[in-house]
Amino acid sequence: MIVRVIYRKEGLYMNIFVEKMKSKLESEDRINELSPKETLEKLGFKDGMILCDIGAGTGLFSNIAAKISSNSIYALDISDDMLEYLEEKKKELSLSNLIPTKVVGDTLPLESEKADLAIMVTVLHEVNNQKEMLKEIKRVIKEDGRAFIVEFHNSETPFGPPLSRRIDSKDLISLSKEAGFTKVEEINLGVNMYGIILEK
Ligand SMILES: C[S@@+](CC[C@H](N)C(=O)[O-])C[C@H]1O[C@@H](n2cnc3c(N)ncnc32)[C@H](O)[C@@H]1O
Repeated sequence: MIVRVIYRKEGLYMNIFVEKMKSKLESEDRINELSPKETLEKLGFKDGMILCDIGAGTGLFSNIAAKISSNSIYALDISDDMLEYLEEKKKELSLSNLIPTKVVGDTLPLESEKADLAIMVTVLHEVNNQKEMLKEIKRVIKEDGRAFIVEFHNSETPFGPPLSRRIDSKDLISLSKEAGFTKVEEINLGVNMYGIILEK
């Protein structure tokens, strides 16, 4: 029998898994490098736009996006723990436009050409069929929409997954083109991570 211990911390219900994820994903160094608000703004995300955040985790990007735009912010995740936490944050921050949604299997639970921007921040290296996922991301963004994928540099960095699980930026660019994206731009975020901006 699996026993899930849920407790209240900082005014929110969470469990040990969520608390560990939160301290990792919301560390000062990580937030400084990702600069979620500035990054979303640089990507042209503004009021009225729809965001699809795939593998939203604790909502580092989604929660901010839901304040920038009053339109729908889809915070997708495969983890029930993270989805429960996202619901908690939604209540705490009164984010009525935040829509935590469960991902099951390889298909994103979103209709085609729905999002102005789709983001996937440090998730793709955890995905089994990366090309299929990139195709799904291409499917859910509008014709003039963009996607933003963040991954770890393929070298020793202060934090990140084992080297064997990292995706080299050149490989990600090739994969994105194979998935059907035509315009691809790479940006360096900092010592740990890089980003790829994709257009159809
Ligand atoms: C390293 S965390 C990143 C969280 C968030 N993007 C951030 O940058 O703070 C990875 C998240 O992706 C989720 N995840 C992993 N594979 C996924 C998939 N195929 N579809 C959706 N979410 C996934 C995990 O449950 C976890 O919450």
